[in-house]
Amino acid sequence: MRALKNLLENNKAWADGIKSVEPDFFEKLSHQQSPEYLWIGCSDSRVPANQIVGLLPGELFVHRNVANMVVHTDLNCLSVIQYAVDVLKVKHIIVCGHYSCGGVDAAFKNLKLGLIDNWLRHTQDVIEKYSSLLSKIIDEHAKLNRICELNVIEQAVNVCKTTIVQQAWERGQELSVHGWIYGLHNGLLKDLNICITNNSELASIYQSSLTYLSEQN
Ligand code: CO
Repeated sequence: MRALKNLLENNKAWADGIKSVEPDFFEKLSHQQSPEYLWIGCSDSRVPANQIVGLLPGELFVHRNVANMVVHTDLNCLSVIQYAVDVLKVKHIIVCGHYSCGGVDAAFKNLKLGLIDNWLRHTQDVIEKYSSLLSKIIDEHAKLNRICELNVIEQAVNVCKTTIVQQAWERGQELSVHGWIYGLHNGLLKDLNICITNNSELASIYQSSLTYLSEQN
């Protein structure tokens, strides 16, 4: 407790700072949240969701796990998506990966790190799915970058294929699924040209985003 005194002091200063601009900010927020966005990102400490997109508490619903995976049977991630879509009625789901992802790197190199290896097995499935495409990239750094990008596209498609998103689209709910990637080296987000707003465009946008990727360096 004593060792974390600095964090508690930081917190007090942060809350005071916000209240100095808007005195009833926390009081108002405590009654309800109505975020427009769900962020599904990596747990990496260098990819802090709210700061990257300049959103305040109350504006971004967040789920993070190692390598920003959307696994069809992951009740944790599915519950977050379901609550966000059905209850909060978010309008956008953003799957955001990042370059130099340790999880993707471990999956690619088949590192033996423990329990996490089972989680990253899903990332390895993505790598295997695109093995012929990836075999054409000689430079290892470029190859890892491409895997990070492909992983975002695959996870965005996984979001679209959940019963939650499928049913939301069936009932005509406004909901877009996006795929972005973040550069640790420059602090910038890149849109991977994947934005899916209904089931009928899923297959074609998936293909066009892969074509877009293949045209990048
Ligand atoms: Co990561």
